[in-house]
Amino acid sequence: MSEQQRTPVIEFDHNSAGHSADTVGDFRRVREQAPVAWTEAWGGYWLLSGYDAVFDAARDDDLFSSARHAEFGITGQAITLPQKPMALHLPIELDPPESQKYRSIMNRLITPRQVKELMPMIEKYVDMFIDEIIETGEADFSTLTGVPAIVTITWLGAPLRDWRRHAKLHRAILAEPIGSEAYRHAVEVELPALSKIIEEVIHERRLNPTDDAISFIVTQEVDGRPITEEEAFSMIELLISGGVGTTAALTGQSLVWISEHPEVKQQLLDDPGLMQTALEEFLRVFSPTQALSRTVMKDVEFHGVQLRRGERALLAWASANRDGADAGDTPDEVDIRRSPNRHLAFGVGSHRCAGSHLARPLARTIITKILERMPDYRIDSVSARRYDRQGVNTGYEYLPATFSPGERVYTDEALSDFEGPEN
Ligand code: HEM
Repeated sequence: MSEQQRTPVIEFDHNSAGHSADTVGDFRRVREQAPVAWTEAWGGYWLLSGYDAVFDAARDDDLFSSARHAEFGITGQAITLPQKPMALHLPIELDPPESQKYRSIMNRLITPRQVKELMPMIEKYVDMFIDEIIETGEADFSTLTGVPAIVTITWLGAPLRDWRRHAKLHRAILAEPIGSEAYRHAVEVELPALSKIIEEVIHERRLNPTDDAISFIVTQEVDGRPITEEEAFSMIELLISGGVGTTAALTGQSLVWISEHPEVKQQLLDDPGLMQTALEEFLRVFSPTQALSRTVMKDVEFHGVQLRRGERALLAWASANRDGADAGDTPDEVDIRRSPNRHLAFGVGSHRCAGSHLARPLARTIITKILERMPDYRIDSVSARRYDRQGVNTGYEYLPATFSPGERVYTDEALSDFEGPEN
């Protein structure tokens, strides 16, 4: 098909420095031109930026496939654009009905009841992270966003000493410029090294299961036979990459916004129950997972454009969240009481986030405890630094904050063995 026939065409690259400098404005610009449009970046792809287009695409797995397709040259991770050189992740890289075999295991692993049991561990880590800085009066709050990483690693039962390495690895893969030395090191050195450790743990738990999440996964059945160690790895690595960065990105951005809006901060302090709707609004406006991709499987007209089999598409959750449904006439306003609020921050359809039951209480606990224990905190948002690349994840890597010093909850002794937040 000639390029002229792919219309409308826009200038857009979700991995560019220009996009990262103003993700919201850049999405608004292209959305106003067309909710579905073609860009020549990264070999060419359809950008789906309107709410209806993103919603319809995510719910149509037959037309928009999440799987790898060697016939179209997609042998790496297909849900990112460009494709990432990573091991297969399950169930996110399969289409139904195959994906459901693994998704049902995830669903049984992460239930509200199971997450409730994790709450004491989550609360303890949040307090310990705060303890590490609370006496100083100033700190880099981005260290607090290590909590989701240490929680994920503890819950899975992977070696705790590696939690910081996992966090750094996945942040580098998502946020370092593609082709940079940091990106190369992450993909070629750290990823294989940490993968090997996880593979060993999987093998060990297969022989001697405990009560951790890795043991749960390695003792499941798929198609009436024991899950293989490769399949278990594909699920566990997805849980690590899904668990460590996203919730951190959500909490960092929420803390900055709250700091910039003292009157709302006071409302949250006066009425902590408001955090329920506030968190949904933070999910909508910050959309930590900005956009993920699919492959078109049929020649068909879709929302006014002609799609062709084998073409790539990028579903921009972040853009959709400022376009429709309950955002009404005020999509760019942050309304912490907005309800209902049917945002797409967790995706929609068969691959809708399997970890949302964990992500919500985790983010809520971090933000609430910071408000409780450092109520006058202020983040210097001028000096704060965002990730270099914000095409997949948005977030901050440096968050300088000041606050009135407070008291620790845990003793020196309790903290001495703690693999704390230092970078
Ligand atoms: C604020 C935090 C989070 C956000 C914004 C987020 C976002 C998303 C999105 C947009 C998807 C859909 C992917 C697609 O359609 O291709 C997804 C899927 C997924 N997420 Fe999350 N996520 C978050 C936290 C978590 C956590 C904490 C975990 C694990 C503990 C997790 C595990 C997963 C998994 C396993 C999938 C794949 C589900 C499937 O393919 O069926 N996520 N997430």
